[in-house]
Amino acid sequence: MTHSTPPSFRSPIDVFGDWALQGKDKGMETGHARAVANMLDFAIPRVQSPESFSFLDAGCGNGWVVRNVREMAGCRMAMGVDGAEAMIEKAQSLDPEHSDSYQCADLMTWTPEQPLDLVHSMEVFYYVEDPASLIKHAFEQWIAPGGRLILGVDFYRENTVSHDWQEQCGVDTMTLLSQGEWMNAMDQAGFQECEHWRVDQHMKPDWEGTLVLTGVVPSPK
Ligand SMILES: C[S@@+](CC[C@H](N)C(=O)[O-])C[C@H]1O[C@@H](n2cnc3c(N)ncnc32)[C@H](O)[C@@H]1O
Repeated sequence: MTHSTPPSFRSPIDVFGDWALQGKDKGMETGHARAVANMLDFAIPRVQSPESFSFLDAGCGNGWVVRNVREMAGCRMAMGVDGAEAMIEKAQSLDPEHSDSYQCADLMTWTPEQPLDLVHSMEVFYYVEDPASLIKHAFEQWIAPGGRLILGVDFYRENTVSHDWQEQCGVDTMTLLSQGEWMNAMDQAGFQECEHWRVDQHMKPDWEGTLVLTGVVPSPK
C-alpha cells in the first residue's frame, strides 16, 4: 500500500542518490551489517555449486556486499545494481578495478546477461509500488534454476516502529506488507523451499527485527 504523499516527497532513487552524496551510504552499511551477515551465512553454504557461483546484490547502495562476497571462496562473479547514479559512482570509486561490476538501472525492468546463482537484497524490495511483481521479475528473469533469492526487509506491518519512515525520509513509494504478504509473494512467484525468520528481534525496544525471506527457483525435472 502506498497512500498519497505530499508533493515534496521524492522517488526512492532520488532520495538515496542524495544520501550517497551526503555520505549516508556508510551508515546503511553499518546498520545492515548484522542482518546481511546472517543472510549470507545462511545462503552461501547452500549455493548449488559452492566451487563456482555468481552473485547479485539488488539495490547494492555503495556496493559493500558485492565487495565482501567477491572475496568469498567459490565466488566467480559478484555484481551490484542500483537505481541511484550517485550510489553506483560511489561503488565504482571504492572499487575502481571492478567498476564494471556495478550497473545503474531500475530493478523493475533490469535483466542480467546470464542468470545468477544467488541474489541477495537488503532493504530494497519495498521501495516499489508492487513488491510481489519485483519478486516475480526476480524469479523469472534473474535467477538460474536451482538458484536462490534472499531478501531482508525492516519496513513491514508487524514492525510498527518502521511505520513512520516514509514521512521521516520523504520518500514517495514505500509499500507496507505484512510478513504473511511477503511470504505469499514468494510462494506465488514460484519459489520453492521458502523460509523466513527474523534477525535481531527485540534487540531494541519494539524492534521486531529484520524479516528475512528466501526461496529457491526449481530446477527442471
Ligand atoms: C535502504 S538502501 C539499501 C542499500 C544497500 N542494500 C545497503 O544495505 O546498504 C535502498 C537502495 O535501493 C535502491 N533502490 C530503490 N528502489 C530501486 C529500484 N527500483 N531500482 C534500483 N534500485 C533501487 C536505492 O537507490 C538505495 O540505494
